[in-house]
Amino acid sequence: MRLRLILCSLLWMAVATDAANMRAAQVSGYGEDASELLSISDTVPRPQLPAKGRFLLVRVQAASLAPGDCRVMTGKTRLVQGPPSFPYIPGGDLCGTVVEVSKGETQFKAGDPVVAMFDTAGPRGALAEYKVVKAENAVLKPAALSAEDAAALPSSALTAMLLCERHVRSGDRVLVLGGGGGVGCHLVQLLKPHGASYVAATSTQKEDLLGELGVDRVIDRTKENWWEIAEFKDTPFDLVVDLYGTREPWNRAASSGVVKSGRLGGRFVTTVGDTPYMKFRHWWHIFPLMYDMTARSLWTGIFRSKPRWSYHLGLEPKDLARLLRRVEAGELRAVLDSTHQFDLQGLQEAFRIQKSRRAHGKVVIVVAKE
Ligand SMILES: NC(=O)c1ccc[n+]([C@@H]2O[C@H](COP(=O)([O-])OP(=O)(O)OC[C@H]3O[C@@H](n4cnc5c(N)ncnc54)[C@H](OP(=O)(O)O)[C@@H]3O)[C@@H](O)[C@H]2O)c1
Repeated sequence: MRLRLILCSLLWMAVATDAANMRAAQVSGYGEDASELLSISDTVPRPQLPAKGRFLLVRVQAASLAPGDCRVMTGKTRLVQGPPSFPYIPGGDLCGTVVEVSKGETQFKAGDPVVAMFDTAGPRGALAEYKVVKAENAVLKPAALSAEDAAALPSSALTAMLLCERHVRSGDRVLVLGGGGGVGCHLVQLLKPHGASYVAATSTQKEDLLGELGVDRVIDRTKENWWEIAEFKDTPFDLVVDLYGTREPWNRAASSGVVKSGRLGGRFVTTVGDTPYMKFRHWWHIFPLMYDMTARSLWTGIFRSKPRWSYHLGLEPKDLARLLRRVEAGELRAVLDSTHQFDLQGLQEAFRIQKSRRAHGKVVIVVAKE
């Protein structure tokens, strides 16, 4: 009798512990090699809804990676993106099902399928079975969209949409550098609906796909230099969008004659700037960053012999619903580089591809089947 009681207690404790725990990816410290830093644990405490505010506890189905996930892992931007402690759970944008909502929440309820974008500058915790998300960062998932496609969209396609709304003018001839990446694959679909008359893009693969997505001319950067192409010098671009960064694309655009001068309406917009792997470890690192972001913008605004340079920054979660309506209307679709299983091998491969800066579309991890 006593033995049966002990066994029952042990079983109950095991079930209770299991209910309070979840499977999650873990990053053990800062470094460059994700394969050394990543692990998977089945005993990570399941997150709880905070007592105050509007939050949703979501059972995650799929999560996508972004360059920011790799940047956080390096620790180079630890001042603004560092985790409170190690190990931390990586991953940002996600799709899943609401299991619990904050008291008084009226917009969402348990059972709702949702898409949510990352909600902190630092580690975002989507690569786990459960994640607490801010209600303001979530929207209902359109029924026709798969969980993988939905998870791929939030920050990259939103960046693409907002960039178009702010920078593309009717009749523009546009060149996209890095047109096959996470942002690029979505941007090229939206340029013509926003008024562009001609779209060229650099990409080392997927020429056919980019053609389908609205690109008139795909330039394989390993075979041709975009700044030397005669037809571009004859009819220069109005707008260059740089999704790769470093100083070189700007120097080429400013000196080769393939982009109009600022006087004639020529513009160069970057989401990256001169330092793709910027450092943000101490407060004084803000100065080179601010210089990067403002000085060239100022002088190209005054002396208009070069294209007008600007840095595109910022995502507003309130625009996510608008983005998904455009997806539902068939104006754009999610483009995936690859999908990966939620195991150590799958995670390591996903981070390897994302870190290489050679992803063509979004890298997605399937956390749980629908
Ligand atoms: N400012 C913001 O609000 C904001 C928001 C989102 C993203 N971002 C930033 O925007 C950048 C682009 O994001 P993403 O998600 O599209 O990145 P991604 O998926 O890594 O794509 C980068 C693309 O760059 C291309 N590339 C690689 N090496 C290149 C080179 N030497 N020259 C030219 N292109 C090269 C790659 O295509 P090929 O190998 O085919 O050429 C790749 O598709 C990232 O730095 C990200 O952090 C900024």
